[in-house]
Amino acid sequence: MTGIVLAAMSRTPDPRLREIMASLVKHLHAFLREARPTEEEFETGLDFLLRVGKASGAQKNEMILLSDLLGLSTLVIMINNARGAGETDPALLGPFYRAQSPMCAPGESISRDARGGEPLAMAGRVTDLGGNPVAGAIVDVWQASPVGLYENQDPEQPDHNLRGRFETNADGRFHFRSVRPTGYPVPTDGPCGELLRAQDRHPYRPAHIHFMFSKEGYKTLVTQVFVNDDNCIAADVVFGATTALSGNFERLPDGTSRLEFGFVMQPGKRRLPRAPIP
Ligand code: BEZ
Ligand code: FE
Repeated sequence: MTGIVLAAMSRTPDPRLREIMASLVKHLHAFLREARPTEEEFETGLDFLLRVGKASGAQKNEMILLSDLLGLSTLVIMINNARGAGETDPALLGPFYRAQSPMCAPGESISRDARGGEPLAMAGRVTDLGGNPVAGAIVDVWQASPVGLYENQDPEQPDHNLRGRFETNADGRFHFRSVRPTGYPVPTDGPCGELLRAQDRHPYRPAHIHFMFSKEGYKTLVTQVFVNDDNCIAADVVFGATTALSGNFERLPDGTSRLEFGFVMQPGKRRLPRAPIP
């Protein structure tokens, strides 16, 4: 059976499409031979995928969420970005990234909400694989509010709250003020939530800040820094947290948290991702 399907697809003119589809069919057939689903189970599976598609739209991409929950998104990121040459671990862009957030002056606060939160001061340094500073890189930063919602999920927050872009100085350094991030659940109101409940999995991501570094001549680095004492740090529902991305969000006597973190970019192509939702 597998051979017949592969033969039927063998004239695909695009060689990469031919390679990808052949591999997909081989693995899907092997999966069915191993799991041996009943016809009812197979129908349930197809219906689940149909519902994932129907739950996706301009405001929510349930398909990406499914890929996240199965570890596929993180695996693709690792395959394409992790070289093991000393660069910072990549992590998910996530569904809440917005392009063109405000350009900020060094040290400016990205907290634009009068309700504030626990103050945070972040200082970072960007270097290349040889330890040399990367000057003039654009650092795009975004995070969830203290109630665990991104500004584009929450009509109560001002536009671009907890988002901003900074530029590294001649020594590769940047710094900004914000609020201490909190963990949050991924959306659980759709079929992916049903799956998590059926698997007895919690829906939480450990508290984190998203970072994206870009500069001509360097591979764009999309990553996250996680609060190292978060309860979920070892059990991120989307498998993005790594030990190397754990940051010490030290609480100072005046109640401010302070995070220092170094980021390493690798040479390559500057590529800016498409924002998942507007
Ligand atoms: C996030 O980091 O923002 C995120 C990633 C995957 C699913 C949901 C949220
Ligand atoms: Fe996030």
